[in-house]
Amino acid sequence: MSEKRILELTAKLNKWNHEYYVLNTPTISDFDFDMALKELQKLEDENPEFTLPSSPTKRVGGDITKKFNSVKHKYPMLSLGNSYSREEISDFVDRIQKNIGGEIEFVCELKYDGVAISLTYENGRLLRAVTRGDGTTGEEVTANVKTIKTIPLQLHGDYPPLFEIRGEIVFPHKAFNALNKKREEEGEPLFANPRNTASGTIKMQDSGIVASRGLDCYLYHIYGEDLGFGEHAESIQKASEWGFKVPQEADKYIGRAKNIDELMAFIDYWDMNREHLPFDIDGIVLKVNNYQIQSELGFTAKNPRWAIAYKFKAERVTTKLISIDYQVGRTGAITPVANLEPVQLGGTTVRRASLHNADQIEKLDIRVNDEVYVEKGGEIIPKIVGVNTDVRSPSSTKTLYPSTCPECGTPLSRKEGEAHHYCTNDTECPPQLKGKIEHFIGRKMMNIDGLGAETVEQLFDAGLINNIADLYDLKYEQVIPLERMAEKSTNKLLEGIEASKRVPFEKVLFALGIRYVGETVAKKLAKHFKNLNAIKNASLEELINVDEIGDRIGESLIEYFANETNLDILRRLQDAGLQFEMVIDESIELGSSLEGKTIVVSGKFEMSRNELKKLIENNGGKNGSSISSKTDYLVRGEKMGPAKLKKAEDLDITMISEQELLKMISG
Ligand code: IVH
Repeated sequence: MSEKRILELTAKLNKWNHEYYVLNTPTISDFDFDMALKELQKLEDENPEFTLPSSPTKRVGGDITKKFNSVKHKYPMLSLGNSYSREEISDFVDRIQKNIGGEIEFVCELKYDGVAISLTYENGRLLRAVTRGDGTTGEEVTANVKTIKTIPLQLHGDYPPLFEIRGEIVFPHKAFNALNKKREEEGEPLFANPRNTASGTIKMQDSGIVASRGLDCYLYHIYGEDLGFGEHAESIQKASEWGFKVPQEADKYIGRAKNIDELMAFIDYWDMNREHLPFDIDGIVLKVNNYQIQSELGFTAKNPRWAIAYKFKAERVTTKLISIDYQVGRTGAITPVANLEPVQLGGTTVRRASLHNADQIEKLDIRVNDEVYVEKGGEIIPKIVGVNTDVRSPSSTKTLYPSTCPECGTPLSRKEGEAHHYCTNDTECPPQLKGKIEHFIGRKMMNIDGLGAETVEQLFDAGLINNIADLYDLKYEQVIPLERMAEKSTNKLLEGIEASKRVPFEKVLFALGIRYVGETVAKKLAKHFKNLNAIKNASLEELINVDEIGDRIGESLIEYFANETNLDILRRLQDAGLQFEMVIDESIELGSSLEGKTIVVSGKFEMSRNELKKLIENNGGKNGSSISSKTDYLVRGEKMGPAKLKKAEDLDITMISEQELLKMISG
């Protein structure tokens, strides 16, 4: 019985997943998907012997790989010959045409800038995923790759019994930026670029983290015996029929070209438009379409003779490195920043460039007064990619990374395995103090109207605030004399501070700026412990028992609450009247305001969907599982499936928001 249901749910969930992620046409709501996934997870937990390797529960991650096995590639993972010159591309095409004779069709593809991956499918199931490694042997990262939603775990249609498909795992900009935003909020140093981060992510030991990062994969080549098709373009089309996400001609992600003009038109198009793509590319790949001609052309020792990559030139300029600043962030992380002689790059004047960390300076041996190469890649901040040592002065000396904080003189510390140095003086170091206050007032934290980074700076410099608790002691007479402050702006600031006393506990917890405690972690902690005292008194063991709280966060919390200065600030904040516990509004917990109403919830909400459903039940309502003429209300969340929306519209069902539902309940 369970076995049959596991089989059925696995197949259904894989199909829905394909419709959602690959075809972009969901047929069920997120809620129904989650419910089915939960049911499957429960059945698998109870009957692990029936769990299928293609189970969609693997996509959620959780498997830990201690050591990645080395796997020898059946077909070596070759690289492509490449060129930055259009002339050389033209020569390549001419050579093939002369060699083979007649008109040759080429397929033009994007050159995805990510990490190459080889996927082996046996009887339609993803058997293993292996990195490129040295081209001959790679590392098996199957558990991690299974978390990438666009990679099918089970194929459909007339797939060959055994084949390998290769592609590139990329970090889409949206997911990459979201990750960095989260890191910023949690006080962690930012990742430099999507490619390196994708490469680091795919080799992480905890597949749960991989699952949370939102990687994607584009496939570009199939290997196998007797595959039964004659053309590369046809093979890609077939892969689509088996369930892979493939580049579409309509998006111009792939195209065919019969002559050099058509090839160049494809290259030109993406040279102009690549910045609008949702992921990074570093060039265009041209491949002979016909397999027969491919095999006639064969390979050199390193590259196929039937394909070439045209690489886009990353715009690069030379300039002088004037000095290096060592900036101190809110958490004490030190970021070296290069001050450059101003130079034009990609339409803007560049004066500063990121140097990332001590290792980067050491690796490139970057020194003050050097002539450096600056590039603008996919990243927004330009970077130094090298040094022209030919023109280096003989008197130049190696850059000595500072051993003490440039702002407060405290010796810097660097933990093993960490890329950044830290200033540990978090109770006195000025940029850390200012940074903490700026974080505290942020929109997603205390959201203090009338107070921005500039005013914080002013108040800090005037000696009026030194920490977040000082904000609540500010008086009108102290603020009004400051430059640019007038009656209206002073009142607005003080009113904003007053209003922040009503900000809910979970946001206050996030606002405190405890290292690694971002928005989500704060919510989890607040929900679990209900008040600040309980968190403060919790042992490391109790902390890490909370879902998603690991050693790192636990230790950071223990450290924070062991610090007398922090405890003093917390006491003052509590005296000022900030919310230090969850407000449980009893009136909305139990009641009968929804008596006799059938309510369907769909999409994403502030509350968890289960909480919302419980609330409906507790107030006399009935939770409907699908929309029908019997549905009274549809509570509409974010990202609700289009099919459900249409059905609700067709049946003229009243749609309400989460807030409207809460209002109905509280009367
Ligand atoms: S085809 C034998 N197509 O670029 C040819 N490669 O140096 C196999 N890449 O290692 C590669 N986009 O990681 C091919 N559309 C594309 C590609 C692509 C990116 C990567 C791949 C390869 C490297 C070539």
